[in-house]
Amino acid sequence: MDSSEYASLFKRCVTGILIGSFILLCLLIRKTYNYWKDRGIPYDKPIPIFGNLGFIMRKSIWDYCYEIRNRYPKDYFGIFLAWTPVLMVQSPELAKKILIKDFEYFPNRYLYSGYSDPLGSLNLFTVKNPLWKTLRYELSPMFTSLRLKKITELMNINATELVRKIKRDYIDKNNVANLKEIFSMYTSDTVAYSVFGIRVSILNDKPSPLWYITRHMVQWTFWRGLEFSMIFLVPLIASILRFKFFSGAATDYIKNIFWNVAKKRKESKTKNEEDLVNLLLKLKDKLKVSDEPGSPLADDVILAQAAVFILGSIETSSTTIAYFLHEIAHHPEVQVKLFNEINEAVKQKENDVLDYNDLLELKYLTACINETLRMHAPVAYLERLCAKNYKLDDNFTIEAGTPVFINVLAIHYNEKYYPEPEMFQPERFMSDIDNTNNVFLPFGEGPRFCIGKRYGMMQVKASLAQLLVHYKIKPALPYTVKTDPYAVIMAPKDGLSVKFVPR
Ligand code: HEM
Repeated sequence: MDSSEYASLFKRCVTGILIGSFILLCLLIRKTYNYWKDRGIPYDKPIPIFGNLGFIMRKSIWDYCYEIRNRYPKDYFGIFLAWTPVLMVQSPELAKKILIKDFEYFPNRYLYSGYSDPLGSLNLFTVKNPLWKTLRYELSPMFTSLRLKKITELMNINATELVRKIKRDYIDKNNVANLKEIFSMYTSDTVAYSVFGIRVSILNDKPSPLWYITRHMVQWTFWRGLEFSMIFLVPLIASILRFKFFSGAATDYIKNIFWNVAKKRKESKTKNEEDLVNLLLKLKDKLKVSDEPGSPLADDVILAQAAVFILGSIETSSTTIAYFLHEIAHHPEVQVKLFNEINEAVKQKENDVLDYNDLLELKYLTACINETLRMHAPVAYLERLCAKNYKLDDNFTIEAGTPVFINVLAIHYNEKYYPEPEMFQPERFMSDIDNTNNVFLPFGEGPRFCIGKRYGMMQVKASLAQLLVHYKIKPALPYTVKTDPYAVIMAPKDGLSVKFVPR
């Protein structure tokens, strides 16, 4: 064979390999994307490689969940997150089975950010069993009624600062308030105490290290949005690309503050029984974390909990307060009822500031918050990973390794459970019928439901009760507002605003 024949043979071989690889790839893609078709389950048509993720960074996950329920008004159907088949569940009965009754089949979440991100992968939200079970048990004392009562006192002090800041910065200067920002300041000042036991006041314009951390957490820039979206929706890629759950700057700050506080406690031999640092330091001694290479370090485990408590308390609560005010600004009749309820309690108490027990008694305020959380649930879907084959019904068995998403918005906007679901009607949460049973999921359900539910509700109530005594709320924006396309935990696109008018 001469050299030209060699070259031609080589060319034919390469072409053959390329064609062969291409055919194999096509077959693989076909097999992957026929997953739901082969099982007779309706599914959202995917595009190769991206699956149904074409919306990412253009539309929020919240909007995707909201829209898809209309396209597939079914108990369940299939979607593809990139190449991974995911079961989307929209029936409360099936959700109850997955989240509560058969939890042993679904003990973990699907999201992860890999071992290069210890704070991201070891926090209570992301951590897998069996470590999750130990952590959940050990962290629960943080939320006893006694502790919450004490923390409510501080929430109230910060809510008073909030009322003053609104007068100073928005009423006196005739500015429109960026709600997401000021309520993040309020939640940030409170979490500084509940996590680290330190008193700061960004609301009073004093420099706060916590605000530095939280400002980073609540800003949904393109890059943060992409990192978070990948961690939640395509964790394999997030892990390969070493994406982080918490930004580098936030992580460094949390580490610094945590160890400074811990050092001071040790030196002065003082304890603050109410804060998380104290609980975590005790936990560190208890944690029997192995010394083997690759196993999580106790320091990483405890820092991860501090980080997720900060994120958990700030992001969701500030969004809820912002949407609440936006709704009542557009519903003056609701506002009058609310004011009457709060004002009555204030008169009886002969004090503008209501305590923990008084706030629990405000039924209409609770109903309005519930209705806000129904319509604007910050977490649009709940997710679990199927650990072993699970017979969902007579037609379908979920295979081990399949992620399962519960579309919370499909349940919250279902006419069957909430007539006229697009209408803000807090009265639906005032009836005797327990409307919150399985069809109300803003905090999730089952053993992995939100550990900070009562803390979050109290934080929202404490601020609103004081605000509404001092101010009438008037709209500053049209009723329909867009969600932020970069936000994984739902957030309003431009922060939301209302006008505060002194009473
Ligand atoms: C309005 C406020 C809040 C809302 C709407 C909310 C919502 C949620 C939701 C939907 C989940 C997932 C539950 C599930 O999968 O079943 C969750 C979990 C969690 N939340 Fe919250 N949350 C709020 C406040 C808080 C607060 C104040 C904290 C911390 C102090 C917190 C910390 C957590 C943690 C650590 C988890 C993971 C629990 C686990 O897997 O064991 N959240 N939250």
